[in-house]
Amino acid sequence: MKSPKPIVEVVSTGRYLPDRVLTNADLETMVETTDEWIRERTGIRERRIASDDMGAAEMGARAARIAMERAGVLPGEIDIIVVSTATPDRLLPSTACDMQALLGATNAAAFDVSAACSGFLYALTVAEGYIAAGRGEIALVVSTEKMSGIVDWEDRSTCVLFGDGAGAAIVRRAQNGRGVLSSFMRSDGTLAELLWRPAGGVKVPMDVAVLEEKAHLVKMAGREVFKAAVRSMAEAADQALVRAGLTGEDIDLLIPHQANIRIIEATARYANVPMEKVFVNVDRYGNMSSATVPIALDEAVEQGRVKPGDNVLMVAFGAGFTWASGVIRW
Ligand code: ACO
Repeated sequence: MKSPKPIVEVVSTGRYLPDRVLTNADLETMVETTDEWIRERTGIRERRIASDDMGAAEMGARAARIAMERAGVLPGEIDIIVVSTATPDRLLPSTACDMQALLGATNAAAFDVSAACSGFLYALTVAEGYIAAGRGEIALVVSTEKMSGIVDWEDRSTCVLFGDGAGAAIVRRAQNGRGVLSSFMRSDGTLAELLWRPAGGVKVPMDVAVLEEKAHLVKMAGREVFKAAVRSMAEAADQALVRAGLTGEDIDLLIPHQANIRIIEATARYANVPMEKVFVNVDRYGNMSSATVPIALDEAVEQGRVKPGDNVLMVAFGAGFTWASGVIRW
């Protein structure tokens, strides 16, 4: 099958990672765990933790400025800012509006999408649709996550998994045949309670009992999430390839959501992409929810692992559940 003609391209990327490193050895002093357990079950060695005064908008703005500079895009030229975050600075208004103010992107529409770890691919697809409809020419897509702010630091089954970071991309109408060849998104809201923050919204508002029970922090049924992640990422990889008219053999680099090395390996096996062609940084950063995919893409480009003309397959899975994928011809 012939690949479809891309409508938009990712012109540039950028990332922000906090300086502070939290190692597995540090975690051994905080909860009943071991470096060996964390490495064997997840592949994570260390993660970054943002300072108390650093918010999601500020992290995202730092990543965005790098992407804008690389693309030669000025703040006033951005038509739309789509931010994905599971860790907004506050519930109203959006983190995207705060980011717009920080960037001085005065001509942009700005809003958040909530799709947990799949958020970057959801946000990219929203930006693609806006440009395809002729409503604008330049989009800023940012995923920014301060996971350290929503995990229970006394719960060893979750706190060892997550980290903080932000990734950004400048997206514009495709020129020269490079760009987004395919995208796929799915959700299953019946499984929400396997990975969620049960309270703190309007249904179960924040009160003393919520705080005492820590019901506003992340709860996860790890084993069930693991199984669903493997199954859904396999489907997502398949769908992105079929829609792009490609097979695993055509893929030059697979960028999976970085939650767990075992999920990454299973996804690669299923997509028929050898591990040499899989980008992995979960060992250094842990799971940064939706920020993992754009940060990995940015590092891959910087390291020369993505070259002009390469086919890059991105696949993600997260709370909701949500799952998504896409192929970019770089
Ligand atoms: N240190 C030591 N022991 C631990 C720790 C820890 N940090 N955490 C749990 N354990 C113990 C458990 O208590 C349990 O002990 P028990 O057998 O005495 O009851 C044992 O280890 C096994 O626990 P499981 O949860 O069954 O371990 P599993 O092999 O499933 O690994 C893990 C847990 C790593 C969380 C795995 O299930 C996983 O990766 N799940 C997917 C998580 C994920 O990817 N989430 C994010 C995707 S979506 C998103 O990114 C938001």
